[in-house]
Amino acid sequence: MQPFYITTPIYYVNAKPHLGHAYTTIVADSMARFHRSLGQETYFLTGTDEHGDKIAEAAEKAGQSPQEYADTISGLFSGMWPGLQITNDDFIRTTQERHKKVVQEVLQKVYDKGDIYFGEYGGYYCKGCECFLTEKDLVDGLCPDHKVAPTYIAEKNYFFRMSKYREALLKHIEENPDFIRPERYRKEVVSLLESGELEDLCISRPKSRLTWGIELPFDSDYVCYVWFDALINYVSALEYPEGKKYKKYWPAAQHLVAKDILKPHAIFWPTMLMSAEIPLYNHLNVHGYWLIKDTKMSKSLGNVVAPLDMVDKYGLDTFRYFLLREMRFGNDASFSEEGLVARRNADLANDLGNLFSRSLSMVHKYFDGVVPAPKKLTVDAELKALAENAFTNFTELFGRVCFAQALEALWELVRGLNKYIDSSAPWVLFKEKDMERLAEVMYSLLECLHKVAVCLQPVMPDAASTMLEQLGVKDIGTIAEETSTWGRLVPGAGLAKASNLFPRIDLPKEEDAKQAEEAAQPIKKKQAASKDDGLIEFTDFQKLDLRVGTVVSCDPHPDADRLLLVQIDLGEEKTRQVVAGLAEFFSPDDLKGKQVVLVANLKPRKLRGHMSQGMILAVKTEGGMQLLTSTAPVVNGSKVS
Ligand code: MSP
Repeated sequence: MQPFYITTPIYYVNAKPHLGHAYTTIVADSMARFHRSLGQETYFLTGTDEHGDKIAEAAEKAGQSPQEYADTISGLFSGMWPGLQITNDDFIRTTQERHKKVVQEVLQKVYDKGDIYFGEYGGYYCKGCECFLTEKDLVDGLCPDHKVAPTYIAEKNYFFRMSKYREALLKHIEENPDFIRPERYRKEVVSLLESGELEDLCISRPKSRLTWGIELPFDSDYVCYVWFDALINYVSALEYPEGKKYKKYWPAAQHLVAKDILKPHAIFWPTMLMSAEIPLYNHLNVHGYWLIKDTKMSKSLGNVVAPLDMVDKYGLDTFRYFLLREMRFGNDASFSEEGLVARRNADLANDLGNLFSRSLSMVHKYFDGVVPAPKKLTVDAELKALAENAFTNFTELFGRVCFAQALEALWELVRGLNKYIDSSAPWVLFKEKDMERLAEVMYSLLECLHKVAVCLQPVMPDAASTMLEQLGVKDIGTIAEETSTWGRLVPGAGLAKASNLFPRIDLPKEEDAKQAEEAAQPIKKKQAASKDDGLIEFTDFQKLDLRVGTVVSCDPHPDADRLLLVQIDLGEEKTRQVVAGLAEFFSPDDLKGKQVVLVANLKPRKLRGHMSQGMILAVKTEGGMQLLTSTAPVVNGSKVS
């Protein structure tokens, strides 16, 4: 089986780690865990990028030497990873000797080949980008990313003949369509290369201007440009050129970066590799940016999210699940605690947690808490087909870095299992004393849950282990083994008495909390007056405007799997839109044409970006949902009294 090698960018040590760094590293960790669990030998590298103008400047501001400064911030990164359960095999720092040595070897090799030349260059230098910008790059004379005017610098420097490799790189990308993924970033790189504007790369800085870097082996008056230095970490950590790790893992390399550093990874790095005659990496996986309510995270806006604060508040499993589930890999995504809580409650508490705890309690009720032994250690055919489909999709999509879609595929099974309980009605089988069939049903359920837990290990390591423990599983196989063989769950194993994996959590928004407080005041007073007996006056009931209406159309909510956008005819001039949490129980077609009862005078409010004008009444049953309706059709808008 082919080994697997995954890298994160090495992070600059000029600022504390935040949500963005945590995301990339958690994704890399989930990939590493996933590939290990497929049985592949895996190597996972992360680290810090410590040279260059940015760091020298930040250190000066902090009144420290660059090395002292780098030591402190690098420590913040390496110190954060255990709190996110990152299982990296190595942590490289570009100030380590093992790295500097390889950078000099590569520089010498490229120089000896004639791909580095000395020349004079004048250009606009942006310290934030650590590179020269062309006039075309500037917007109103400013660097578009850092919003500062770059300094015009003319000096003699060393240049790497990057342009020489333009065609070879284009050809490689054409022949390997997955080299850069997703597609949109491949296209971006292709059009950049096709535009013919690829210049040679200035790879040195004169020591007169910057000393904080790796000295060029062929000219001690210069240090190496920070990107040329940094990219080499991906092979220096493997002890290029002779190291065993290099020989084993390099051919399987996959890099993980965000779109901000696409060009260095998609153009500088492969052309450097070509020149140094090192085979190219396998895949460059490029993700989008986390925005905070649609704005960039920035210190000055004070909206920087500290990962460990989120972990303290919501738990690591929920945080990791949310990051992988919420961002469609490649696109930007919006981070909010409201969004995180909504996912926790919908996907984890309602769908998975409830399913799991219901299943355990049924086994306790019907089989004294041990895994029952059906005649055949298999799963009902229809459920088996659903599960196999879910596992194939999950594995395939996860392997192609489509994490959100992979989890969606797995949740088809989770929801399917909830439906399976309803349709096979174990409580009826128990009542009818059909213990043989009941054993089949419960075994099917537990075996599928066991496999779901195995698939979830890369994403939610703790919760998945707890699930497996609570299912009495001792021998945990790889994802490949567990999802391809049925009957792995051992009958007779004792299950945990109860499970409360993901209790629902509430996030009162500041203004909601205020409103709730205000609203609670009179109620409290009234409750005190009525001796807290929980009864309401008839006039309180009269405040409710309950009406019957017909669903005229219904669509899935574009951003929330559990919600439906339901248009209801209430006999008013315009139909009403209600955002209802019914998607789990009804398809849009199920609802169309049905008469429902609506709380018609509920204050309108936006739910996940869509206005909701009322609430549909329904009854939750064991694993299902029944709508309240009238026993005979009535005129739309009829009042319930
Ligand atoms: N030192 C370079 C990388 C050299 S790799 C040879 C660098 N460092 S960085 O500290 O700026 O890290 C950039 C990376 O951090 C992004 O590519 C991404 O992985 C992560 N993120 C930083 N902010 C982010 C978001 N807002 N959203 C998602 N990830 C982002 O560039």
